[in-house]
Parts: sequence; C-alpha cells; structure tokens
Amino acid sequence: MTTCCTVSLIIIQAGGSISGLTIFGVNMKKIPVIIDCDPGHDDAIALVLAFASEKLDVLAVTVAGGNQTLVKTLRNAKKVLYCMGKRPLLAAGADKPMFRELQIAPAVHGESGLDGPSLPDPDWQEDPRPAWELSRDLIMASAEPVTLIPTGPLTNIGILFTAYPEVKRKIARISLMGGSVMEGGNWSSAAEFNIIVDPEAADIVFRSGVPITMCGLDVTHKAQILPEDAGAIRALGGKVPLMVAGLIDFFYKYHAVQGFAGAPMHDPCAVAAVIAPEIFTTKDMHIDIETKGEHTAGMTLADLRFWTDAKPNATVCLDIDRAAFARLLIDACGKY
Ligand code: BDR
Ligand code: CA
Repeated sequence: MTTCCTVSLIIIQAGGSISGLTIFGVNMKKIPVIIDCDPGHDDAIALVLAFASEKLDVLAVTVAGGNQTLVKTLRNAKKVLYCMGKRPLLAAGADKPMFRELQIAPAVHGESGLDGPSLPDPDWQEDPRPAWELSRDLIMASAEPVTLIPTGPLTNIGILFTAYPEVKRKIARISLMGGSVMEGGNWSSAAEFNIIVDPEAADIVFRSGVPITMCGLDVTHKAQILPEDAGAIRALGGKVPLMVAGLIDFFYKYHAVQGFAGAPMHDPCAVAAVIAPEIFTTKDMHIDIETKGEHTAGMTLADLRFWTDAKPNATVCLDIDRAAFARLLIDACGKY
C-alpha cells in the first residue's frame, strides 16, 4: 500500500519453533487469519487466494448469512473448501443481521448462492461453536495478534465485539470487503451490499478502534478479472482452476448486464490487501456508517474535509495494480 500507516503483520524471526516460511534462511512468521464469509462466487475465490498463500495461516473459516441464507452459504463454504482439499476449522455464525431481516442476493449469486460449477457436497460436520465463540477461542489462544478477513456482512464480527470486547486488543487488523467512498452503492444508490445488509454490525466494527483496511467498490470495481485472465486460469486445468473459471463465468453474466468488461473480484481484494498490500493505493480516512437514513442506510460516509480533525479509522483502498492482482490470482490457482 502506498500510504498505509500500520503494516505490522509480517515479523521476521531468526529461527524458532513456529511454523513458517523460510526466505534466505530467515523464518517469516505466517500471518494468522480468520476468514468470515458468505459464499458467494467472489468469497469462494477469496478462499482460493487465501489458502494458496504461504504468507497466511488460516486459523478458521466462519460463515454468515448474506449472499444466500446461512444454510446455503455454509454448504457452499464446505463445497469450495472440499474442492480445494482443505479442511480448516469451520463454524456457522449468524443467520440474520444483528437487528434486521436478512437481504440475500440471488440475482448475483443464483438460487444456491454459488450457481455455475457443479461441486460435490462433502459429508462434513462443522465445529459446534458459533462463529463468534470459535473466533474468540482462537484469537485469545493465539500467540500473535490475529487478522480478520470478513468478506460478507459484518454480523459475526459485530456479535464477537459485543460479546467479547477483550478480543479487540488481540486483533492486528480487519481487512474487509465492504462500502464505498467515491463510487456510490451497488445495492442502493448509497450503499454497498455487505454494509447495507447489516449496518449496525458495520457501525460496531468501524467504531471498534481496531485498525481497518477497507476494500470497497472504489477498488473492487477496478479489480476486474478479464476474459483473458479467466482463460489463463482455465488453461491451468485441474479441479480448483476449473472451479474458479466456472465461478467467474457465472459472475460475468450479472456484471456484463451492468456494463462491466470483466468480473469485479470484490472479496479477493480483502485477502490481497493482506498478502500483497503493495499493489494497492490507499488513503487513511474517517468513515462513519449510516444506520438510519431513509435513502442512505448502509452508506460508508467518508470525511473528506482536509481541515477536519476527525481521526482516521480506516485505510481505504482506492486503486489497484490490476495486472498484478490478476497475476496473483492466476498464480494462486496454479498452486492447487
Ligand atoms: C459484496 O457483495 C456480495 O454479493 C459479494 O460477495 C461481495 O462480498 C460486493 O458488494
Ligand atoms: Ca461476499
């Protein structure tokens, strides 16, 4: 990131017993992360990117209702992880927003929430703990501060911070997909889907004091995977690249109608901002969440006044090196 103030997630350790990646004889600690998602096509691709990265130690995947009902998003998470050959700790979270009814997005993700490629349904019983209990246990037990990567409505994190505020001091950063500063909304004229689904949870998160990296529509609409990138992924062959190519094909259809040349990879941006922050251009801003507006509920309102003393609470991603991002995703697909 060009202007991010706190990128303290990679710590160099000269030896030691932790598991990690060794570069030039130096052991690089992996970044412990929890991915909270609502798969969803782009959530699924975010999981592919995260599990392919040697920089991340994915402690758990937690799931919320969002793009589809919780029953469907949980089933989709299992299908995607199974296809990837991964079996992380997995927990179900909230089936509806903290104080509202759930809005889902079948127009974008289909009736299953993951229409397109046909994926086997694994026999997999998730962890009995709800998402916020599992997250609390993992965060408090972690030797290193944990990074949260939410790619759906922020309900599970809102509940976590409300029930267990002590976890906040052990969270390094939240890298989230949600909101928009200059780009307007995609679910209303003012609001982006993840935030409008649960604005109260988003408000809790943005007021939490935990460092936030916000990947909103400003950057995710630029992070498009073009047909030639999808072709490169398909050409890799194998289960995971073919799943990703199939997901992109389906995602194209909805976005083509809106006039996009490619498929915006919203959720993978939240992962990329942790593993490749250098490909983003960012600006620190103060963001408020509108929870009440008749026309503006779910808006992420940025204080753009240069003379204000409102303290920034988010590092907002505004631009991305699209070619580098596409390469990151293609390379990730090639690692399966
Ligand atoms: C967000 O909404 C969902 O449909 C996507 O999965 C993404 O998280 C984009 O607005
Ligand atoms: Ca999502």
